[in-house]
Amino acid sequence: MLKFFSSKKSNEDFEHIHIDMDNIPKHIAIIMDGNGRWAKERKLPRTMGHKAGVETIRDIVKECSNLGVKYLTLYAFSTENWRRPNEEVNALMNLLVQYLRKEFKELNDNNVVINHIGDISKLPVLCQQELLEAYNNTKDNSGLVLNLALNYGGRDELIRAFKTICKDIKDGKISEENINEKMVSDYLYTVNMPDPDLIIRPSGEQRISNFLLWQCAYSEFWYSNIKWPDFKVEHLHKAIHDYQSRDRRFGNVK
Ligand code: IPE
Ligand code: IPE
Ligand code: MG
Repeated sequence: MLKFFSSKKSNEDFEHIHIDMDNIPKHIAIIMDGNGRWAKERKLPRTMGHKAGVETIRDIVKECSNLGVKYLTLYAFSTENWRRPNEEVNALMNLLVQYLRKEFKELNDNNVVINHIGDISKLPVLCQQELLEAYNNTKDNSGLVLNLALNYGGRDELIRAFKTICKDIKDGKISEENINEKMVSDYLYTVNMPDPDLIIRPSGEQRISNFLLWQCAYSEFWYSNIKWPDFKVEHLHKAIHDYQSRDRRFGNVK
């Protein structure tokens, strides 16, 4: 089934985009980038950019949920983002707590599971508590699974997996001969989730920045110069529309 969406290009010009509702990506992952530059353009402090970025999250989560996307992974804080000035890191952590408190009801009403991936044990205790509470109160919901990637790094995730695999071999739980792709996937934060079909990165950067390194093996990438606070539902529609026109061969021939 095709669904048509129109978005305003200018005062008189509308662009119509169609989305095939039978080919919605199961898992969309977004590198929410460009908050700092968005703020700089407006001569505002970087933290104002992060605040504006949270507004975008609300609309995008809602639309993914409406479209029937099953998993949405949002890269919110990388293992490398600790290198930023303390004030910025603190502001990001506070925004996370505010976001969870403010949005909990609506997310829960929309049947969303509020999940997280990454090593949250390094986050401030309050953030950890809010994340665990949000997860525990929504884990039985049957709608969209929202993965907030926090203190997430693809390399860190793989190192943790390697260590646990080695330990499980030593403990006789698994044997070396049985290691395969499925088993490695089962040792990652994204256990039981499909790999991302579509990875979106706004802000003009075209790099993976340590995001979902194992899982992105056959993901489709979609880049845009739009900065995350300016990213709108129509950009999501465009990304999904473009995704649907791609030929995913997975190494095979047609
Ligand atoms: C993304 O925006 C948010 C986080 C990384 C937490 P940035 O803060 O990276 O924004 P730019 O890239 O400096 O514009
Ligand atoms: C990636 O963005 C991390 C998040 C969006 C959370 P960065 O802004 O940290 O990435 P680089 O430094 O430009 O690669
Ligand atoms: Mg950035």
